[in-house]
Amino acid sequence: MKILSVVGARPQFIKLAVLSHEIRKHFDEVIVHTGQHYDYEMSRIFFKNLDIPEPDYNMGVGSMERSLQIKTMTDSLDRIFIREKPDLAVVFGDTNSTLAGAKAALKSGIKIAHIESGMRSFDNTMPEEINRIETDRISDILFCSTKTAVGNLKNEQIKGKIYLAGDIMIDALKEGIKSGEKNSRILKDLNIKKGIYMVATVHRAGNSDDKKKLKNIIGAFVESGEKIIFPVHPRTAKAMQSCGIGRKFENTNVIAIRPLSYTDMLVLEKNAKKILTDSGGVQKEAYFFKVPCITLRDSTEWVETVNDGWNMLVGADKPKILDAMKKFNPKGKQRENYGGGSSVKNIINILKKII
Ligand code: UD1
Ligand code: UDP
Repeated sequence: MKILSVVGARPQFIKLAVLSHEIRKHFDEVIVHTGQHYDYEMSRIFFKNLDIPEPDYNMGVGSMERSLQIKTMTDSLDRIFIREKPDLAVVFGDTNSTLAGAKAALKSGIKIAHIESGMRSFDNTMPEEINRIETDRISDILFCSTKTAVGNLKNEQIKGKIYLAGDIMIDALKEGIKSGEKNSRILKDLNIKKGIYMVATVHRAGNSDDKKKLKNIIGAFVESGEKIIFPVHPRTAKAMQSCGIGRKFENTNVIAIRPLSYTDMLVLEKNAKKILTDSGGVQKEAYFFKVPCITLRDSTEWVETVNDGWNMLVGADKPKILDAMKKFNPKGKQRENYGGGSSVKNIINILKKII
């Protein structure tokens, strides 16, 4: 039995890292990297840091407008599917690479398994929401992280087989933090200690492509006076440069750095006072580490983190961000464990039964 895994963006490399090693114990695997992310810190670093097998194909698609990118990826993937004839295509999450992988598999009549299926923010202005919905509609096997996701798919009367598998990012996190705590020098390198700093990440199109929102967010970081470690996504670095925001950091408490390896990032998050982010994965990591999360969006698909009081949605509203940085101090019980790290085991067991 041959599985073809399609990845292309940072969070997908992290998800693949924990799944691939297990897949290879039971099946043949072909890895295809679409090339959606290509900077060293957005791609290669994860293959090295997490010991992910080298991709069999790197399509090197690169950055372009969304619909053209999906079409370009789908066309190249078509050719790979025809050549490799896998029994199953595995796609992860909600990026353009996810949807392209699913579309190409559908065209070749290959069964599709979608990992992190059923997540919904109910915000159709987000490209990720469209990618998720379209991928779920054509997937045969839908692995959900949460009961909420299962409910979303049932409400949409999705045709494929739905499984509650738990969240693969928790499996990754549990392994990653062990290795990070042993090997990471990030706190030393940045000369910081537990609890004296906040971590921030910003990359969603809704924030980085909107000058006003980006200025509000960065303005709040600077005005807060808090020490903020800010690993800057290349999309945001370019946006900040094009509107002259980058210079605002000089002589402030905001420390803008290049994107980090996964294990350094986890160590930084675990020891932070608070986390500010518009990332999906980082919201869950904050919840797991019980670090208050201030989400720079108006909606989230990870609703459990908000319902339990550990995540606060503030959008790009400067006064709200500043207020949350000062006053948001959740203490409540956490009721969601996102599968507790057993997602990979569950996925493999299901795959062994059905393919
Ligand atoms: C993509 C995903 C998003 C995910 C994120 C993970 C889509 C629609 N979005 O967003 O869901 O959360 O990845 O990080 O698929 N760039 C570089 N170097 C790189 C990669 C990107 O310079 O290695 C720059 C380019 O200017 C590019 C821009 O970042 O145009 C955006 O990249 P893209 O992959 O389109 O979207 P992300 O914002 O990374
Ligand atoms: N991450 C990382 N280095 C960074 C920033 C983030 O390794 O500099 C990790 C983070 O810990 C999380 C994942 O990348 O596991 C989230 O990816 P991202 O925010 O790019 O995408 P999203 O989850 O929003 O789709």
